[in-house]
Amino acid sequence: METHAQLAGKTALVTGGESGIGRSIVELFVANGAKVHVIGLNEPQLDEVRRELGHDSVSNAAADVTDEHALADAITAGADRWGNYDIIVSNAGIGCTVAPIERQHSAEFLKVLHVHVLGAFHTLKHATPLVADGGSVVITSSTAGLSGYAETAPYVAAKHAQVGLMRTAYKELASRGIRVNTLNPGPTQTALQDGIAKQSTGHADAAVAAQAIAEGIPLGRYNTPEEIAGSVLYLASDLSKTVTGTTLVVDGGFLG
Ligand SMILES: NC(=O)c1ccc[n+]([C@@H]2O[C@H](COP(=O)([O-])OP(=O)(O)OC[C@H]3O[C@@H](n4cnc5c(N)ncnc54)[C@H](O)[C@@H]3O)[C@@H](O)[C@H]2O)c1
Repeated sequence: METHAQLAGKTALVTGGESGIGRSIVELFVANGAKVHVIGLNEPQLDEVRRELGHDSVSNAAADVTDEHALADAITAGADRWGNYDIIVSNAGIGCTVAPIERQHSAEFLKVLHVHVLGAFHTLKHATPLVADGGSVVITSSTAGLSGYAETAPYVAAKHAQVGLMRTAYKELASRGIRVNTLNPGPTQTALQDGIAKQSTGHADAAVAAQAIAEGIPLGRYNTPEEIAGSVLYLASDLSKTVTGTTLVVDGGFLG
């Protein structure tokens, strides 16, 4: 299939880009002509992405998005390599223990908030000054950022807070022509979702757990990470030139 390079000449930053949804975003961005700086925690996976997609298109830096100074240095390293960013994808995230609020641990609640909310805040704080006017920022929130799900309070609270962050940032950055949106995926086939599905269904087998969840999705299946990447490409590119402040739901009808 012929690929139309939607991001030719653009530079992107993707956090949590070494696996799952983030990795598919990096692959699709590179296939569309972008240079991509990937920040994440897992160094062997970060190096594998760079090796597989090519050093002339991908750079990387290991940093925890909750560590403001380490993240700021990692963000600057990408701009030093490729020049100012056109696209920021704040995507790093973790799952949570599936349990009612009375059995959730406060330390884990705080950790989940730190990774998703403080992490996205740090990413926007240090990356948006390096974004060229007219750029695009995407935060990977979730259907859990728009609706409640029992027994996942840390994750649901964190994903809602990311929407609040986006709704502030798009107003602050509009004068520079920078668009800010959240992508709100439903269940998507990744290790993170496998962990949540196994806990919430009680099935130890990830495929069986996924099938049980998929039965509650009108289209009858999970998103693939590649399908989510396609929606991020839409938000990142000129295909969505006037789209800002929106929550783009990609969920097979799950939220309904
Ligand atoms: N899979 C789903 O069903 C689903 C649905 C909606 C939203 N999401 C969101 O999509 C995003 C990507 O998740 P995924 O499903 O691809 O899972 P994943 O576990 O494959 O990817 C998460 C990535 O974030 C990185 N990461 C985690 N904590 C980090 C930290 N403190 N600092 C830097 N990097 C860190 C991990 O190393 C990993 O590469 C997450 O924000 C998740 O909440 C996922």
